[in-house]
Amino acid sequence: MARVLVTGAGSGLGLGAARELAEDGHTVLGHARSLERAGDLRRVLGEQAVIIPAELSDPSEVRALAAAVAEAGGVDAVIHNAGVIDGRGILPVNVVAPYVLTALVPAERVVYLSSGMHRGGHPRLDGLDWDGLTTTASYSDSKLLVTTLAAALPRLRPGVFSNAVDPGWVPTRMGGRGAPDDLQLGHRTQVWLAEGEDPATRTSAYWHHQRQQRPHPSVGDEGFQDRLVDALREHTGLDL
Ligand SMILES: NC(=O)c1ccc[n+]([C@@H]2O[C@H](COP(=O)([O-])OP(=O)(O)OC[C@H]3O[C@@H](n4cnc5c(N)ncnc54)[C@H](OP(=O)(O)O)[C@@H]3O)[C@@H](O)[C@H]2O)c1
Repeated sequence: MARVLVTGAGSGLGLGAARELAEDGHTVLGHARSLERAGDLRRVLGEQAVIIPAELSDPSEVRALAAAVAEAGGVDAVIHNAGVIDGRGILPVNVVAPYVLTALVPAERVVYLSSGMHRGGHPRLDGLDWDGLTTTASYSDSKLLVTTLAAALPRLRPGVFSNAVDPGWVPTRMGGRGAPDDLQLGHRTQVWLAEGEDPATRTSAYWHHQRQQRPHPSVGDEGFQDRLVDALREHTGLDL
């Protein structure tokens, strides 16, 4: 049985993934923005569950989250699920927090929530305000960057399986009530990759509904991967 950290587990796809992992017998460390917003997660995981609050746009809270995971005994897998679709949090929450947690939380299997919309992102790094004091990137840009981070990781951490998942357009707060795709299928792939029991998951790729897909061409560009990791290392002071 695996120990899995799920970020943004208080609602939507993260809550669904946490529930599915717990039902499969795994130990879930659930991250939520605050304990007040973790009521549903507490009901899913039970009173004894490890629920760690952190505002992911605050760098000190992201580091405290990593320390709390270590204190709880570490994990085998991380699902970087938390995300925002607009506002100043786009880079801090969608890209910087996953980078910092990747640097500080050792795990054999790492899953990043991407989006089909990453294909509309721009592969540029100039002028990005990683602190989010100003909005310098779109949602699509951020998902292109985090998908590129996922693709860069196996070169930097041999032996780590690093995957990015497009969950489809599903009915969560972000996706909206009318979203056409299936919510269960929306978290199935992340759970399957985090569990790591199927030999097909022992790889690093971009996925949609348990099928590998070809991402934006820049994702596989090692020069772009290196420039992204350099920029995030410089911004955070943390090495992968
Ligand atoms: N839904 C879709 O159709 C769709 C499609 C493609 C990709 N995705 C990706 O799937 C992931 C999950 O999305 P979702 O649809 O489940 O959206 P959601 O229902 O809005 O859930 C997002 C989660 O992230 C957390 N979060 C956001 N900002 C945070 C912050 N600053 N600090 C801490 N936690 C924060 C939220 O916490 P609160 O509840 O406290 O805000 C929530 O638990 C995201 O990465 C999203 O980009 C979703």
